Amino acid sequence: MSRVTYGAGLRELFLLEPGIAYLNHGAFGATPREVMAASESWRRRLEAEPTRFMESERTPALKQARAEMACFVSAALDDLVLVENATTGCNAVLRSLALKPGAEILAVDHGYPAVLKVLRHLAGSSGAKLIEVVLPFPFEAPEAIVEAVLARITERTELVVLDLITSRSATILPVAPIVEAAHAAGARVLIDAAHAPGHIELDVPALGADWVTGNAHKWLFAPKGTAFFWAAPGAQEGLHPTVISHGYGQGFAEEFDWTGTRDPSNWLALPTAIDFYRRMGDRAIRERNRALATEAAALLQSELGALPAAPPEMRGAMASLALPMADPAGNRTAEALHDRLLRRHRIEVPIFPFAGRLWLRLSAQIYNEMADYERLAAPLKQELE
Ligand SMILES: Cc1ncc(COP(=O)(O)O)c(C=O)c1O
Repeated sequence: MSRVTYGAGLRELFLLEPGIAYLNHGAFGATPREVMAASESWRRRLEAEPTRFMESERTPALKQARAEMACFVSAALDDLVLVENATTGCNAVLRSLALKPGAEILAVDHGYPAVLKVLRHLAGSSGAKLIEVVLPFPFEAPEAIVEAVLARITERTELVVLDLITSRSATILPVAPIVEAAHAAGARVLIDAAHAPGHIELDVPALGADWVTGNAHKWLFAPKGTAFFWAAPGAQEGLHPTVISHGYGQGFAEEFDWTGTRDPSNWLALPTAIDFYRRMGDRAIRERNRALATEAAALLQSELGALPAAPPEMRGAMASLALPMADPAGNRTAEALHDRLLRRHRIEVPIFPFAGRLWLRLSAQIYNEMADYERLAAPLKQELE
């Protein structure tokens, strides 16, 4: 049991603007003060003697940060590198692959839009065919998702790209049976686990995929621009960072270690972020945030008649709900509603169109409590009337 009392009392550990109900941790995280201070302290150390720092102090410090990230996701140090974000991790794989013309790339329509764009680019440049599997939605059970994807795997499938937790529908996808079927068909698998570290229990090698990338800046409290990229030992050959530099040809870790001069302070604050996460409860954080998101989603369901994207057992600390709007309008309505909630009621929550409806995605983090979602329900009800 964690001895931490979760809720608004923990807001002072963060830099969050007072008065705003912050219900969008999933988008960019929120970094604790002590982690920001650690990053700043590394930056000062760098600037005190830039040459000494970059040429001799940086390497062991980064290795330590990488080792702690690897340990956190049960990975071997040699198989994991740090990257700026999940987009960079996905690009490393997708820009390195040499697909045969006529090969098929399988993705799902719930994939992250930016990653789907990289896949379109890859298909266009290689002559491969991109297949976006339309998943049965709203989700009712994992089996229907597995069935929909497996039905599209053929002997031409060379690559399968799956989100571990989807962005717009905030749903944990059943990746294990899909990875197994893809491998049996001779395809390789990239898992975009952008939302997973710190959000759900994560054992990266156990996912069985070829490549996995995940953000530490969302749910693991690291500063922005901190993520990992993991490659199975048999899937490292021919893999290069999108920006090739001094480490070219010297092995996986070396290639990703240096992609040109950059400030590593945020990455070096990763051990402080992991320490903060553990002190705040580790598993207890995951259990509590998930319970809070479940309760908050139930409140919006009963107060507004909102429709959840997935049942509670397929969710973590986020929930997406379709708003009961007569006119399922697009971006302009979503933006206007978001802006009114922020300006008039000081509530930050994402609202967006998806699959013909308008959705709200709520997040639950240690500084949130039910009062935040109760504060959202009343004005939202008014808006929808
Ligand atoms: C599933 C998924 N993939 C990739 C990303 C991109 O993350 P980043 O902007 O940190 O690269 C996100 C961001 O929310 C995401 O939800």
